[in-house]
Amino acid sequence: MLFGNFHPDLLSQIARTHGTPCYVYAGEKIDAQCTALLKAFSSHPTTFCYAVKANTTRALLEKIFRKGIGADVVSGGELQRALNAGARADQIVFSGVGKQDWEIELGIDRGILAFNAESLSELERISAIATGKKKSAGVFLRVNPNIDAKTNPYIATGLYSTKFGIAESLLDEAVHLGLSLPGLKLRGLGCHLGSQIKDAKVFKQAARRLSRLTESLKTHPDFQYLDLGGGLAVRYSNEKPPSVDAYAKAVLSPLQKNGLKLVLEPGRWLIAESGALLTRVIATKKTPKKRFVIVDAAMNDLIRPSLYEAYHPIVPVEPRKGPAQTVDIVGPICETGDFLALNRKLPPLKEGDLVLVGVTGAYSAAMASQYNSRPRAPEVLIEAGRPKVIRRRETLESLTAFEV
Ligand code: LLP
Repeated sequence: MLFGNFHPDLLSQIARTHGTPCYVYAGEKIDAQCTALLKAFSSHPTTFCYAVKANTTRALLEKIFRKGIGADVVSGGELQRALNAGARADQIVFSGVGKQDWEIELGIDRGILAFNAESLSELERISAIATGKKKSAGVFLRVNPNIDAKTNPYIATGLYSTKFGIAESLLDEAVHLGLSLPGLKLRGLGCHLGSQIKDAKVFKQAARRLSRLTESLKTHPDFQYLDLGGGLAVRYSNEKPPSVDAYAKAVLSPLQKNGLKLVLEPGRWLIAESGALLTRVIATKKTPKKRFVIVDAAMNDLIRPSLYEAYHPIVPVEPRKGPAQTVDIVGPICETGDFLALNRKLPPLKEGDLVLVGVTGAYSAAMASQYNSRPRAPEVLIEAGRPKVIRRRETLESLTAFEV
C-alpha cells in the first residue's frame, strides 16, 4: 500500500486507461475527514463552510455538501460552483478583500448567510447594492487581529502587514457602520489567520480574542455567529499538526459560555490527504552536480513546491531494488523553478516508472494552469475500489477555444 491507501495495481491501471499526469482521490478519505470534523464539534452549534478554493471539482464538492457542510467562497465563480454542486445558500459565506459589484449582487440574490466584509468601504458598497435591490445582506466583519499564525508568509493572513480583514483598531467604526447602514444585517464577527497552522494555541488565542470582541454585540438580535476561518494544518512530512479533536478543544474552550454559533472554514484539512498526483518518468539525466528525474507532471499541475518551497512526499509506485539516489524530481516546463522535489532520496527510478506525489488533494488541481500550453490533467475519484473520471483531460482544441 502507498500513502492514501492507493493500491499500486489500481494506480497502474489508472495510468494505462487515463494517462499521466493524473490526479487521483480516495473518496473514503474525504468522507472520513468530514465525519471526524462534524463529530469533533458536535457539542457546539457549528456551521461548516468548506473553503472551496482548496479544490473546486464538482464531484468532490457534491460529496462534501452532501454531509451537510456549506461553503466559504472568495469569488462569483466559486459561489456559482458551490450552488451548482448543491451547497445551501444559508450555509455560504463570501470572503475576500476585493469583491466586485456583480459578485456582491449574486450573493445577495442567492441569499447567502453572510459576506465576510473586509473593509469599511466594502460595507458601504454592500449596503448600497442591497438597498438598490430593496433587499438586505447578511454580513460578518472580518477582523484582522494581528496574530502571528507562524506559517509561510505567503499564506499568513492575520497580521497588520497583510491586506486582509478590518484592523482591530478600526473595529468600533466598522461595527457602527454595520449596525447603522441600511440593507445590512450584522450577523457576526470573523477572522482567518492563515493556512497550514500547526499550533493549536494560535486557534485558542483567536477564539479568545474574538469571543471578547463579540461581548458587547450579542444583544443585537441578528448578531449570532463567530467565524474562526480555516487553517488547520495537515501532515506533508514530519509536521505534527494538532488532531481535529485537539483543534476542537482549543477553539471551543473559550466559547463555552459565549452563546454564539460557530462558523469554521476548513479547506486543506478536509481534502488534502485524500489526493495524490500520478506521474510517469520521461527521462533521467546527470550533470557533474546533480541527478535529475524528469517526470510528466510539472509546476503547472502542482505549483506548491515552486511557489512556497512546499514539501510533498513522493514514492515510486513499484519501487526498484538498489541503492537510494538523491535526485531532483522536475517537470518538462522551461524554467529552473519547475520542480516537484529537490535533493530527494529515493529508490532508483528509470524511464517509464510511475511515481506518486502525495497530499495533493488541496491547492493542486485548483491552482493548475495551462502554462507551456499543457492541457490540464484529468481527475479520478476512487470509491469502493473503482476509479471514475470526475474531470476529463483537457485537449489541444480546448487550449485555444476562447481565442478569437
Ligand atoms: N477561509 C479563508 C478566508 C481563506 O482565505 C482560506 C484560505 C481558508 C478559509 C481555508 O484555509 P485552509 O483551511 O485551507 O488552510 N495556496 C496555498 C493556501 C492558500 C490559502 C488561502 N486561504 C497553499 O497551497 O498552501
